[in-house]
Amino acid sequence: MTRHFLRDDDLSPAEQHEVLSLAASLKQAPYDSHSLAGPRTVATIYDKPTLRTQASFAAGIAELGGHPMMVDGSLAGIGKRESVADVARVLGRQAALIVWRTYAQSALDEMAEHAGVPVINALTDEFHPCQLLADLLTIRERKGELTGLTVAFVGDGACNMGNSWLLAGATAGLHVRIAAPEGHQPEEQYVARAREIGDRTGATVDVMTDPKAAVDGADVVVTDTWVSMGKEEEAAERLAAFSDYTVTADLMGLAAPEAIVLHCLPAYRGKEIDSDVLDGPQSVVWDEAENRRHVQKAIITWLLGDTDTGEVPL
Ligand code: NVA
Repeated sequence: MTRHFLRDDDLSPAEQHEVLSLAASLKQAPYDSHSLAGPRTVATIYDKPTLRTQASFAAGIAELGGHPMMVDGSLAGIGKRESVADVARVLGRQAALIVWRTYAQSALDEMAEHAGVPVINALTDEFHPCQLLADLLTIRERKGELTGLTVAFVGDGACNMGNSWLLAGATAGLHVRIAAPEGHQPEEQYVARAREIGDRTGATVDVMTDPKAAVDGADVVVTDTWVSMGKEEEAAERLAAFSDYTVTADLMGLAAPEAIVLHCLPAYRGKEIDSDVLDGPQSVVWDEAENRRHVQKAIITWLLGDTDTGEVPL
């Protein structure tokens, strides 16, 4: 059966651990895996803006011995000129794997259903699972084991990053706190799914409005833009709704003394995070950005079933 990586809970706890360990080993020896030797082609499609995702997939695919093929979604007219299913059938005959950044998760699901090759979610409105693998690898590098750590996500809890934190964090056995204003908290279905996973991993989930309560004693503080791609028309309303949710040095003072700060970037300094925090000693955002490449190489290699690259315990 073809495996895909469409949402964070597509990986079981053991599989997530395996992929993160593979990523750690690939980071130490970037050219040791040749899972795309041939070179095999990976089709990459970006329907929303991208910097880190495009760069890290292109570099990572090349490091695996493969060829990144950019498919212009608007030229192809995916879902307009041709159905998603037909695009999937065509690309699946040209590429070993498909990477897609798009809007609706349902379109990605349709691509996966018909492609016949693994499909990777490079961000949808609902989830950003590759980012979460990078975030978890970054936390492992700084804190060792993930299980039992407390993560506070402050800001737009209803965006792709909030949803992915719930699912990936629960899979990793973390205590996930989300602080978001009413109307911007995660949908109940994702909270319920995270709690269901947590019943097996020991993870807990708490959704609240108070950022101070969320950050109190936390090992990791995370934020993301208040205006996700596709929400630009709501910018003014969102800036007002989130004005008490900036990650400031004062807020960081409530976290655990060795707490680290994550941000998937792009960052809007003075909005969701202050410059002195983003550029300060607790920030690990550049490691986090680099780690996109390592985790994506790992998930590609893992999905293709070519995981024989050894494992470096963290
Ligand atoms: N929530 C953000 C993530 C950017 C990587 C967005 O969707 O724009």
